[in-house]
Amino acid sequence: MREGQAPVIRREDYTAPAFWIDTVDLTFDLDPAKTRVLNRMKLRRNPDVATQALRLDGEELNLARVLVNGQGTSFKLDGGHLVLENLPDGHEPFELEIFTTCCPAKNSKLMGLYVSNDSFFTQCEAEGFRRITYFLDRPDVMASYSVTLRADKARYPVLLSNGNLVDQGALDDGRHFAKWVDPHRKPSYLFALVAGQLVAREQRITSRAGKEHLLQVFVRPGDLDKTEHAMNSLMHSVAWDEARFGLSLDLERFMIVATSDFNMGAMENKGLNIFNTKYVLANAATATDTDYANIESVVGHEYFHNWTGNRVTCRDWFQLSLKEGLTVFRDQEFSQDLAGEPSARAVKRIEDVRVLRTAQFPEDAGPMAHPVRPDQYIEINNFYTVTVYEKGAEVVRMMQTLVGREGFTKGMSLYFERHDGHAVTCDDFAQAIADANPGSALAVLLPQFKRWYSQAGTPRLQASGHYDAAARTYTLTLAQSCPPTPGQPHKEPFVIPMGLGLLAPDGRELPLQLATEAAPVPGHRTFVVTQASETLTFQNIDAEPVPSILRGFSAPVILDGGYTDAQLLTLLAHDSDPFNRWEAGQRLALNRAIKYIAEDNQGTRTLALDEAFIEAMRGVLRHPTLDAAFKELVLTLPAETYIAEQLDVVDPQRIHAVREAMREQLAHALADDWQWAYETHRDTGGYQPDPVSSGRRALAGLALTQLCLVARQSGDTVWPGKAYQRFKDAGNMTDRFNALSALVSSGHSLAAQALPRFHALFKDEALVLDKWFALQAGAPDRGGNVLPAVRQLMAHPDFNLRNPNRARSVIFSYCNANPGAFHRTDAAGYVFWSERVIELDALNPQVAARLARALDRWKKLAEPYRHAAREAIARVAAKTDLSNDVREVVTRALA
Ligand code: PHE
Ligand code: ZN
Repeated sequence: MREGQAPVIRREDYTAPAFWIDTVDLTFDLDPAKTRVLNRMKLRRNPDVATQALRLDGEELNLARVLVNGQGTSFKLDGGHLVLENLPDGHEPFELEIFTTCCPAKNSKLMGLYVSNDSFFTQCEAEGFRRITYFLDRPDVMASYSVTLRADKARYPVLLSNGNLVDQGALDDGRHFAKWVDPHRKPSYLFALVAGQLVAREQRITSRAGKEHLLQVFVRPGDLDKTEHAMNSLMHSVAWDEARFGLSLDLERFMIVATSDFNMGAMENKGLNIFNTKYVLANAATATDTDYANIESVVGHEYFHNWTGNRVTCRDWFQLSLKEGLTVFRDQEFSQDLAGEPSARAVKRIEDVRVLRTAQFPEDAGPMAHPVRPDQYIEINNFYTVTVYEKGAEVVRMMQTLVGREGFTKGMSLYFERHDGHAVTCDDFAQAIADANPGSALAVLLPQFKRWYSQAGTPRLQASGHYDAAARTYTLTLAQSCPPTPGQPHKEPFVIPMGLGLLAPDGRELPLQLATEAAPVPGHRTFVVTQASETLTFQNIDAEPVPSILRGFSAPVILDGGYTDAQLLTLLAHDSDPFNRWEAGQRLALNRAIKYIAEDNQGTRTLALDEAFIEAMRGVLRHPTLDAAFKELVLTLPAETYIAEQLDVVDPQRIHAVREAMREQLAHALADDWQWAYETHRDTGGYQPDPVSSGRRALAGLALTQLCLVARQSGDTVWPGKAYQRFKDAGNMTDRFNALSALVSSGHSLAAQALPRFHALFKDEALVLDKWFALQAGAPDRGGNVLPAVRQLMAHPDFNLRNPNRARSVIFSYCNANPGAFHRTDAAGYVFWSERVIELDALNPQVAARLARALDRWKKLAEPYRHAAREAIARVAAKTDLSNDVREVVTRALA
């Protein structure tokens, strides 16, 4: 354990390590209660650093022996560090042998070596390797690893580690061994081992480059029938990285192993990815379309790390976005490319932006706001954030926009040419992309562009247009600003790529010709905004146009477009840019929600959606050529958390009530259209998770939910009956679950029959049970009924706080994803939250710290919520034995 007050780690304090580790030879005797780890390393002093003692990181280890060049030596244990002062002088390599033991069975943090379902797994990113052996546990120390695993053969028949299997055989007493050698040098966070009863789906492939590879997906016996999609996704990933970036698999064998106990989504350990089962296992009966899509993108993500992260890694953890932002960008592009059709690509883009805006924008405006490349942290685990990942991906996307797709590919090549095999910084990446594209907007603006890495907060871009009929010009004035964030009171202007189109009042796209241009420039245009305020003047404009600004969401900013309803209706009906078309619909809905929320009248009964809005929504729903997936996105109202972000003072109950009322009105007003939509989209034939059929299922699902909502008021039983029938007969989980949630979210009494039935059907499918728990904990609140239900769910025999997926399915679904039920005037939701944070912290600080962030935005809450939330946070903060993880979150929240 680390002792004393946790120190703040600062980016500017980076210094190179005093020693390099060239080789590591590990031998494990695996035993749940006491695993023995023999670590033999070759080290040498770093000639660039003045002679120092060797301080190795370690955590929860029992030290038995230390030898230097085969001889006993003096050492100190200092706050978890193993300190060696009497090492040989000079720069010659020396051997260090360390023998330790640890207890995987008691490892509830799921960091380091742990046991799950009687198998062994490791998780080392960011700082878990120090829980396995003493080491320089930092990403800039890259070593060659060989690993010998020894274990009982019957209990642990499969023994895996990174790289190639070079030897295996029997030992005494029913034990066996396997020896693995990784041909690539790597930082310790990419180390992995797995041992247990596992079976594999295997696939041999030949790469474009003509090399043969073995791909394996390991799961528990019984789950093999759920591995086809993951394997297909992996094969697509290999082919895509070769085709798009010329990056080939550099290993003979590439393995994925699934475990049901995992803190995060998945981990890119070299050649031995370890995944949360949630992102591997799928068949039509157990997984939804969303699950299928997530598996594809997470498999892609981890595979793409093999180059962006593993071949080129991070110098220090402040550079985390170097690998994460870039790899998220790559997985987003991968999924778009696989989706194929422009309209399907756009749907993926809209979904990605929706995540950014509902999760990252609030983070950027709250107490945990930090730059994409943070300047300081107490616990690095707290910085695996939507800012580092999703905003980081937007920063990379803007680079691609500024240098073009081909220019970006060239930049990637230069990046690998320069940095392959090294641990580098975000600056190195941006420099490579810019240097490969001399004269590009990125190269010219690089120092200013890099403010996206250093300044936190979401910039606002305010646009106002002026039409001069006499001069036939249209002037667009753009002003940018960025609010203060913790430690950054003042911000400099950003480089904002702005996709732009102008629509004539009849919806026609106008040719764009700046006042300085001799002729209109055809095609899609992106302007680069760099000043605090600037103007663009377009000529030869015959009538006042409607501007379509920030097309494709070309920068992660908040656009204050000052749009009128009429303009938004034009964009919704005609914009050729699908993102802005969707956005127009969201703005129409948002403007109405904000107006109703502000109205004095505390009830919602008099709330009446206007005909224009309803007709526009009907127009989209009935549109002859738009995709079903796109329609579903337009007809889904902005999330409660997104609405909350637009307000200065947040009354979560009020937001919930207004959004529900709007949902019900849309349901009633469009009842015939929903019926039509359901009947015409419900059948998609045999199950295929492709974008077209999943889009149809999504729209049918929304329609069914709306129709059940109508029935709730009218007392009609036909649609709930149909939903129940659908629930029973559905040939796939997507339709079945949509039907179940239609019943649950409309509060229909048939839900009480469907829920136990669903449980009985899937009692042995952990991932499906997670859905069952989550659906109930996330149900719309009716008179405060959700919290008692959540407490009951926690008492259910299938609930297990130690399993992160299960804990999230109940507790996070309630605290993080159900604001209308969580924010209660009696503060009982917050009391529940603080109890769970404390309870979880004792088991798994990483998971607890994520939960702790549920009240990040407490300062925006209206009374009585605000006061009660503060008290709840203070109650957690008052505990003296909190982890660094939770301590950092609550301290920042109260600051
Ligand atoms: N590096 C993993 C990813 O992005 C995420 C992760 C971080 C997993 C820390 C486990 C622990 O793919
Ligand atoms: Zn990643």
